Amino acid sequence: MKIVVIQGPNLNMLGVREQQIYGPMKLEQIHAQMKDVATQNGVEIEFFQSNLEGEIVDKIQECYGEAHGIIINAAAYTHTSIAIRDAISAVNIPTIEVHISNIHRREDFRQTNMIAPVCASSIVGFGPFGYHLAMMGMLQIMNEIKA
Ligand code: DQA
Repeated sequence: MKIVVIQGPNLNMLGVREQQIYGPMKLEQIHAQMKDVATQNGVEIEFFQSNLEGEIVDKIQECYGEAHGIIINAAAYTHTSIAIRDAISAVNIPTIEVHISNIHRREDFRQTNMIAPVCASSIVGFGPFGYHLAMMGMLQIMNEIKA
């Protein structure tokens, strides 16, 4: 079983960008924790970050026939990208979206979410711990697929 983790624009700046919103943790640290959970559960995991919408679409398409689950934080593209939404629909792989901040409590422009309707679940507002929750949720989904 394989999980692909896709991180959108500016998430490579975690630990630097708006620490009062996103906290001090760097993306590499988040990924190291997810890798540990994957290893403990005998699951393969791959990490991908891009600031470019088309590269994210390409990565989702590459998951077809390769991955059993996708964990995605589409970051700002969450609020705008029909292309990423359509890619998630196209590959038909269980997908969990994560947002570090609670987007529901933020600006009006963050209240539009193009991605959530095509995802199995959305995890918002737990900080970096949301990625751990997403791993737990994805392992549960995979157990259901196997059963
Ligand atoms: C984010 C929320 C988005 O609105 C924002 O553009 C991001 C990060 C989050 O993880 O809280 O870049 O996806």
